Amino acid sequence: MHGAPGTTKWSQLSFQQDVGAAAPAFGSAFSAGIKAVNGSALRDMLRMAQVPGMVNFGGGLPAPELFPMDRIAQASAQALEKHGWRAVQYGTTEGFLPLREWLAEHTCPGAAGVTPEHIQIMTGGQQSLDLVGKIFIDPGDTVLVETPTYMGAVQSFVPYRPHFAAVPTDDHGIEMDALEALLADLAREGRTPKFIYTIPNFQNPTGRTLSLERRERLLDLTAQYGVFVVEDDPYGQLRFSGEHLPSLAELMLRRTGGDPDRSHVVYCSSFSKTLAPGLRDAWVMAARPITERLVLAKQGADMHTPTLNQMIVTELLPLLPQQVDKLRHSYADRAGHMLAALERELPAGVSYTTPQGGMFLWLTLPEHVNTTAMLPRAVERQVAYMIGECFHALGGGHNTMRLCFSTASPQDIDRGIAALAQTIHAEL
Ligand SMILES: Cc1ncc(COP(=O)(O)O)c(C=O)c1O
Repeated sequence: MHGAPGTTKWSQLSFQQDVGAAAPAFGSAFSAGIKAVNGSALRDMLRMAQVPGMVNFGGGLPAPELFPMDRIAQASAQALEKHGWRAVQYGTTEGFLPLREWLAEHTCPGAAGVTPEHIQIMTGGQQSLDLVGKIFIDPGDTVLVETPTYMGAVQSFVPYRPHFAAVPTDDHGIEMDALEALLADLAREGRTPKFIYTIPNFQNPTGRTLSLERRERLLDLTAQYGVFVVEDDPYGQLRFSGEHLPSLAELMLRRTGGDPDRSHVVYCSSFSKTLAPGLRDAWVMAARPITERLVLAKQGADMHTPTLNQMIVTELLPLLPQQVDKLRHSYADRAGHMLAALERELPAGVSYTTPQGGMFLWLTLPEHVNTTAMLPRAVERQVAYMIGECFHALGGGHNTMRLCFSTASPQDIDRGIAALAQTIHAEL
């Protein structure tokens, strides 16, 4: 509304004066939740990746030359032709039914009790973590995370203001005796953690896999203490050595006679690492009381995952076994090449994991080496890695780093690992 010509309303005046005087008080405007989020390591990493000649083992991207581009183009055309305007109309929050039907059948093969009602489509696995945090965490709640863990999950949970309790891991994943002791300690203080967040297969960042025996024990302990399990499994299909292990969700369904509504496991997976991450298609499989809450949370977040993308993924489902095979072979070669280079180049006193799948491996250097302080010296030698500290929700890990092998050529791996070894040598 405008005042009559020639008159100036006081509200207009004060607005003009405020704009001229000072910027808004951004600092005090933001919530404590968002102010607690620390994203700087990732920003630094992305900046470094752009330096020409840099061998960047720090990113966590799938190999772009393996994206099935022709098939994606074909699937897009098919989806538009088959579904017409429906492909670009609003869709249901739960997700595209044919995709949910397929996921109900294939997420835990043979579990007939899983129906589309147990499947919620998400806009990337990252949204699954955010919305799981949104429906479970009240400020001050305890959330258990592995040490180290995926920093993107911590970033999703932090705005909901939980207290993190860190669970130690070794080469076979979570240390169960330590978890049991922690749960008992918390119970004595009257605290029941809301959930434990775990990545059982080819964990990001370590590449480690939780053993079968520990999977069973994790289900025992969490059932005993009334703690939900958030199982994050974006890499499970990408096994290139060793025996397939059933997911926690699958093992739990065996215990409930196939009834997902009696399971305390919230299973999250994604097409990001098997098809292409830009499609932003992922899913959660969980008991109906959980998927019903996720629907409410998602309505407030983005209403639904883009309809066309879900249809494209549905068209691509028949290609999936072949595509996953291609990825497994390629990542096996790259991991093997990196392991051979590490074996050849690294000085004594540096240990590393041997992943059976996925995209990462994890280095532990002697105690006195600080990988955060060392990073600029590595960058001078044209190699970058992800510092280990940022995968520790409660601090620590100063002498560790994550290396990603999925995008590196054999030549880059040889040059990058040689440069990394020289950098480490100079610190010893
Ligand atoms: C363990 C883990 N969970 C979730 C995600 C998020 O994946 P998406 O691309 O599906 O959002 C990632 C991505 O790197 C991841 O490593």
